[in-house]
Amino acid sequence: MTANPSAEHTTRFISDCEHAFNKGQLQRLVLSKYQGDEPELNRISIRPINLKNTLLLSFLYEYRSRHVTKNVSLDDAVSLLQRWLGNDFNNAHMVSTDWEIQLRFSKKGKPLLNKHRNKDSATAPAEALQHNREKHRFVEQSRPYLQALGITDSQGQIIPAMSRKWKQINRFIEVLATAISNTALTERETIHIADFGSGKAYLTFALHDYLHDKLGMSTQVTGVELRQELVDLCNNTAAKLNLQGIKFEQGDVQHFAAQHINVMIALHACDTATDYAIHMGIRSNADIIMCSPCCHKQLRPQLKSPAPLAPLLQHGIHLGQEAEMLTDGLRALLLEAHGYDTKVFEFISLEHTSKNKMILAQKRRQHRDNSEVLQQIADIKTFYGIQEHCLERLLNADA
Ligand SMILES: C[S@@+](CC[C@H](N)C(=O)[O-])C[C@H]1O[C@@H](n2cnc3c(N)ncnc32)[C@H](O)[C@@H]1O
Repeated sequence: MTANPSAEHTTRFISDCEHAFNKGQLQRLVLSKYQGDEPELNRISIRPINLKNTLLLSFLYEYRSRHVTKNVSLDDAVSLLQRWLGNDFNNAHMVSTDWEIQLRFSKKGKPLLNKHRNKDSATAPAEALQHNREKHRFVEQSRPYLQALGITDSQGQIIPAMSRKWKQINRFIEVLATAISNTALTERETIHIADFGSGKAYLTFALHDYLHDKLGMSTQVTGVELRQELVDLCNNTAAKLNLQGIKFEQGDVQHFAAQHINVMIALHACDTATDYAIHMGIRSNADIIMCSPCCHKQLRPQLKSPAPLAPLLQHGIHLGQEAEMLTDGLRALLLEAHGYDTKVFEFISLEHTSKNKMILAQKRRQHRDNSEVLQQIADIKTFYGIQEHCLERLLNADA
C-alpha cells in the first residue's frame, strides 16, 4: 500500500506544532493562502496565550476589513488544523524557538514540507508568552532586527532616544497591513516591494519582517538609496541577521528601472524624489503606493497669490504651507486620475515628527472616467499659476 504523502506531511506538521506548544516553544503559526468559503478571510495567525493560568491558542482571523480573535484548546486547534490544512489553507508556517517549518500545497494539492533551524530566535519561551499576553501587536519588540538597528537594547527594551522611531514603525506597519488586507496581494506567490530613499531602512526591515516572518509570505524587498554607505550598512545588517528576500541597491530613484512592483513605498524621500517614486509605482501598476513626502521645493517659487488669498499668502509661512498642500494635493489627484483610490492623512501625530503626512493609494479594480479629475487639476494649476508639477510632467511624458 502506498502511503498518502499529503496526510503524512500534514500529520508530521501538526505533531511538530503540538510538540512546540507543549514544550512552551511555539512562537506563532500562520495559516495563509485561504481558499475556503468565508468571504473576505485572508489568513489566521495563531499564538499561545496564557489565560487565567490555562494555556490556550489564540486564533486571530484576519478579514479584509476587520480582525476577530478566538481562543481555543490544543485539542480543538489540532482538529481544526486537520480539517483545514490542504483544504481551506494551502500554506502554514510555524515558528518555534528552535524550528521554522513550512507546509505548502501546490495547486494540484501536492504537499511540500520544509523544516529548518530557527537561527534568529533569541526569545526565551517565558518571555515569548509574556509578549503574547499583550494585545496582538503589528510589531513585536523582541524582533532581532530592532536590536540590530539600535531600536531596542540587548534586553529587548526600547532605547529611549528611539521611541519616536519605534512609534513610527508601528504606525507604518499598521497602515500598510490594513492596506494589504484590502487587496488580493496575499494570494500572490511572491510579493515584490520597492522602498525608494530607504536610508537606514528601519521601515524597510520592519516591512520585510512583518510580511515574511509574521504573515509567512514569500517577500522580495528592494531598498533603493543614493548613499552607498547606507546601502552597505543595510546589506551588512541583512546578512548578519541571515535574512532572505531583502536587499539594498545604490541608485537614484530618477534613473532606477523598476519592474513588477506590487507595493511601492517612499518615506521621506526628499522633494521631487517622491514624484519619481510615485511615477515608478504607477508605471509598474503597483497595487499599493504609499509615501510620506518631505521638503516640498518645486511649487513654491511658481505660486502666484490669487486675489482673495494674497493677504494670507503674504506671510512666508503660509506660502510654504500652501505650496506643500498643493504639491501633495496634486499628487493625490494625479494618482486618482491614473486609476488609484487615494487618501491623504496624518500618518503619525505632530508631536512625534513634523514629517507626518501620508499619501496612500490603492489600485482601483474598476476603470473610471478621469476627465473630471484632470479638469480639477487644470483649474487648480491655473488658479495658482503653476507651470510645472514634477509628477504630472513624468506622467505626460509617458502618454
Ligand atoms: C529622510 S531619509 C528617509 C529614510 C527612510 N525612508 C525613513 O523614512 O526612515 C531620505 C533618504 O532618501 C535618500 N534619497 C534622497 N533622494 C533620493 C533619490 N533621488 N534616490 C534615492 N534615494 C534618495 C536620502 O539619501 C536619504 O537617505
